[in-house]
Order: sequence, then structure tokens, then C-alpha cells
Amino acid sequence: MPENRLLYLSQADVIATGLTMSEIVDQLEVAFREKGKGLVEMPPKPGIHPGNRDNFIHAMPAYIPALKSAGMKWVSGFPENEKRGLPYISGLLILNDPDTGLPISVMDCIWITAMRTGAATAVSAKYLARHDSSTVGILGCGVQGRSNIEALVVEFPLEQVMAYDINKNTAKFYAKEISDRFGLEVGVVDNPKQAVSGCDIVVTAGPILKKPHSTIKGGWMDEGAFASLVDFDSYWHSDALHESNKFCTDDIAQLRHYQEIGYFQNIPPVHADLGELVTGMKPGRQTPEEKNMTANLGLALDDMAVAPMICHRAVEQGIGKWLTL
Ligand SMILES: NC(=O)c1ccc[n+]([C@@H]2O[C@H](COP(=O)([O-])OP(=O)(O)OC[C@H]3O[C@@H](n4cnc5c(N)ncnc54)[C@H](O)[C@@H]3O)[C@@H](O)[C@H]2O)c1
Repeated sequence: MPENRLLYLSQADVIATGLTMSEIVDQLEVAFREKGKGLVEMPPKPGIHPGNRDNFIHAMPAYIPALKSAGMKWVSGFPENEKRGLPYISGLLILNDPDTGLPISVMDCIWITAMRTGAATAVSAKYLARHDSSTVGILGCGVQGRSNIEALVVEFPLEQVMAYDINKNTAKFYAKEISDRFGLEVGVVDNPKQAVSGCDIVVTAGPILKKPHSTIKGGWMDEGAFASLVDFDSYWHSDALHESNKFCTDDIAQLRHYQEIGYFQNIPPVHADLGELVTGMKPGRQTPEEKNMTANLGLALDDMAVAPMICHRAVEQGIGKWLTL
């Protein structure tokens, strides 16, 4: 790429490159294998909190040599934005040339954040869920409720989704969309337990809270099930968490950091991070009966695995706007 300019990609440009969820899931698995081998540089994310403490803007840098990827996501999460008609998650991602350090692209990060988080659930599930998993419970029918299904469809023979949202109309709208898009049978359920018991895979994707609301109780999750805690431990009573045979995460150092600042105060011992699962350093599921969980925190690694693919496709297809440095 010429050294005096960078490619700006809006959210519409990023989507127009046509990257598929299946490609993103595969790419994340490659990136986590590199992480497992210790070949990724990714410092813990620093953040600022303008206004109230629930607002955040995080800096998320990572370097993945094998993917020739270096850069940073600068991502905001402002819970009150829903009332303003604005997205909760927003931000930009800067991609740098790993040889010269020069910025080569700036792109919107909303789509990448949605897709890579779903993809991380699918990679974790590949190692921790039963391969014949066909019923998924979704708690929180928003952006993540959608992208997690889109990713799980890539890896599993899904047939049925049990959808719960605190807002029933949101769940109804979601059910119609997901059933039309993926040809799945989607039922709207009246209470959270119906989206947990009887499900092979459970995804909780409501608001993240420092003090969990602990709605999901011990005994609700079936033997042999897998859960992805996209909203951290917010939804889970500690008794339910401690029933898991293998409690995993995407990065243990970042999990410890979150614990230091008040999250994840009552979780079981961590079995493995996703890099250790993908490289086989630690075993994934070993029996059909075990209950497994992952609390993936969302890593810069995920974003930096996907961003170069988007940039290359955009250049090939003439998408985006060149800006002079
Ligand atoms: N771990 C990660 O990598 C990662 C990445 C992105 C987002 N997140 C988190 O995932 C969560 C969902 O994000 P999103 O972008 O889908 O948000 P969203 O606003 O699009 O959707 C959230 C949905 O949850 C519903 N909801 C609120 N409280 C609920 C409850 N108690 N039970 C069931 N539903 C409830 C809302 O009505 C809404 O439909 C957020 O907490 C976000 O911070 C995590």
C-alpha cells in the first residue's frame, strides 16, 4: 500500500467487503493458536470512563506476527445510548503496517466487534460443547444474541433456539428474524429458566454488571451442556457457575485484571484459556456429560485477526476512501 495514505472504511464499507462468519471463525481459531504458542503481543486494555462509571472507552492493541497484523481498536460502550437512539458499542480500529509502523487503514469497528464476539463463542464451543448440540438458549436478543447464533450455525447442527429477552417484543422480533435467516425453529420463552434447561448451548448476552443479578440458579443447566457468558458472570448465580466441570476464558491475565477491578468475584477455578484449548495444551470436552462454560472477555486479538482480511478485501474490491496522511 502507498506510504502516504490510508484507507478509510465506514461501517457500510466494512460490511460490503463480504467477509463471512465462517471465515471469521476460522481466522479466530488461527489467531488463538498463535496466542496458545505465545506468539501474540497483547497488553491488558487500558480504559477511561467519561461521565458515569458504566461508560467506557477502551484501547485494545495487539500484534499477531503470523497474520502480519498490528493495530488497535478504540472502542466505547455507553449504556445510556439506547435511550438516545445511538449504539451501545461504537468506535474505530487503526491498522498499522507491521514493517514500517505507518497507519494503513482506519475502519469502523461496530460490525467487527459484533461478529468476532460471536465467532469467539463458536471457537470455544467447538472445544467445549457436544458436537451434536442442536438446541440453543439465548438470553438477551440484541446484537450478540444475533451474531452468536450466526457463528454457532457454522459449527453445529442447530435446529432450535429458545429466545428470552427482558422485553418480550424484542424477543418476538428476534425470533422472526432468526427463523427467516437461518431456517431455525425459534421459540420465545416467558422466563430465563426456559432458555437454559433443555438447551445444549446457552448464551447469556444481557447487560454486564459488576454485581451479578444471579438469575440462573444451580441445577438449571443440563448435564452435557455448554454456556458462553458473553455478559460476563452477570446472569449467573455462583452455585450455577461452580457446577461447571471446565470453566474457561479467552485470556486468563485479562480475567484476573477484571477480578481486581471488581468483576468475577465468585467464579470457579479457571481450567484453560482459549489458546490452550485450541493448541491442545489443555483438554476440551472429554465426556458427553460434563457441563462446560466460557467467559470470553473480548480481546484485541479477535479484532486484529479480522481487520487485515477486511482491509485486503476492500483494496481488492475498490471499497473505501483513500485519505492522505
Ligand atoms: N465479551 C465480549 O467480548 C463482548 C463483546 C461485545 C459485547 N459484549 C456484551 O454483550 C452484551 C450484549 O451486547 P449487545 O451488543 O448484544 O447489546 P444489545 O443492547 O444489542 O442487546 C442487549 C439485549 O439484552 C436485553 N436485556 C437487558 N436486560 C436483560 C435481561 N436481564 N435478560 C434478558 N435480556 C435482557 C435487552 O432488551 C437487549 O435486547 C453487553 O453486556 C455487552 O457489553 C461482550
